[in-house]
Amino acid sequence: MNTQNKFELERDTRLKYQFLRFKTGIYNIIHKKWTWFAVVAYIFIAIVIKYWLDNWTYDASDIGMTINNIGFRMMFPFLSIGGFIVLIVFLGTPKEAKKINQSLNIVGLVNHAGQSPLLLKRYKENSITIMEFEPNGIPLSDWDDKKEDIETALNMHVENIRYGKSRAKIVLQTISGNENLPEVVHWKDKYLSDEDFILIFGQSRTGQTKINLAKIPHILLGGSTGSGKSVLLKLLIMQCVKKDAEVFIADFKGGVDFLPVWHERCNIITEENALLEILTDLVDELENRKQVFREYGCANISEYNKMNAPKIKRIVFACDEVAEVLDKTGLSKDAKELVTQIEGKLSILARQGRAFGIHLILATQRPDATILSGQIRNNIDFRVCGRADNVLSQIILDNTNAADKIPKDSQGLFITHDGVIFKGYLFDEKAVFTH
Ligand SMILES: Nc1ncnc2c1ncn2[C@@H]1O[C@H](COP(=O)(O)OP(=O)(O)OP(=O)(O)O)[C@@H](O)[C@H]1O
Ligand SMILES: [Mg+2]
Repeated sequence: MNTQNKFELERDTRLKYQFLRFKTGIYNIIHKKWTWFAVVAYIFIAIVIKYWLDNWTYDASDIGMTINNIGFRMMFPFLSIGGFIVLIVFLGTPKEAKKINQSLNIVGLVNHAGQSPLLLKRYKENSITIMEFEPNGIPLSDWDDKKEDIETALNMHVENIRYGKSRAKIVLQTISGNENLPEVVHWKDKYLSDEDFILIFGQSRTGQTKINLAKIPHILLGGSTGSGKSVLLKLLIMQCVKKDAEVFIADFKGGVDFLPVWHERCNIITEENALLEILTDLVDELENRKQVFREYGCANISEYNKMNAPKIKRIVFACDEVAEVLDKTGLSKDAKELVTQIEGKLSILARQGRAFGIHLILATQRPDATILSGQIRNNIDFRVCGRADNVLSQIILDNTNAADKIPKDSQGLFITHDGVIFKGYLFDEKAVFTH
């Protein structure tokens, strides 16, 4: 790009920026009452000046004064309109906009012409500060890649980066860099969602972490021993039970994790042959549902359950240590065959379960990429990991965030695959089913 082009580009960008600030200023005048004071004050001062100009007594023989007076009077409408435009641009400029733009420039969040994004709006919602940017041609993936640099530059946690209403805006949800999550957050029964089929995981800095199994059907939980996987798994299963799903739990860890309350409400499987039988039944059930939905012309379980037909329940299959079930090392030929069959059934459920209301919640602590076949893993879209080493974090999340961001001594602290850190709710498993 030659100097002339560069100059023109910079001028155009500056003009575009001023126009965007002007638009935001108009928006602020319409929506924010405090801006009215500035507008009223401006109009008042303009009227006073106009009055003063109109009543300015001067000596007509003083030719210099006369020219000045006539000049001012003629210029006044233009000056006052120009001033008003400047005021609107000022009202459309968020606090610290320049500093924030410079910080983004310093960390290299710039387009090919070296320009950083433009901060359009900045406002608070509870403890969250929302920042809206005109991305200036910088794609969302670049923002994601530079998330940590942005956090350092702004001294804020960036909880979420997404497009605004259109792709012409990028929205950052941020929280003060000094704010920490509490050591323990207790589950309250009122958190249970009555929406089909939202499960709540815990508390992040920007609110609750939750997913809707109707949209994202399966969950993978990872974390080293003692990170809080079983507690989180049980928190999710508890909600499934309360939401009247049918729950199957594969527990191959000796049965110590599940107290009698769970045995009363869920089907607990502790042996491989029984597991294969159950999974075979679940795949048969999936085929049945396929048939029924086809007859009724429904695309999925939510649609079907809205019809005037016998309701069907969602089914949740949970496994606390999936590696214990799927690891084939050191097994006999027959045992390997059994595991292969179990794996095959889980793959079918992972691929097809969503529409038919059959969901998998799998937990693992073993950092071994060969345990979870690609078929299963690739179909699990919601993945969270507690404290972990690089290898486990990479297997669960496809990045090393859990190793980098979850302190090694933390319990019940997790990070989602898209970078949200949350504290899982702690609950009293003996008491929770009594109310
Ligand atoms: N959400 C939480 N908040 C506070 N403390 C927690 C939370 N979750 C777990 N803990 C603490 O961590 C301990 C270990 O949790 P948990 O048994 O779930 O770990 P785990 O990852 O399943 O370990 P393992 O892999 O050995 O089974 C719990 O006994 C509890 O004291
Ligand atoms: Mg456990």
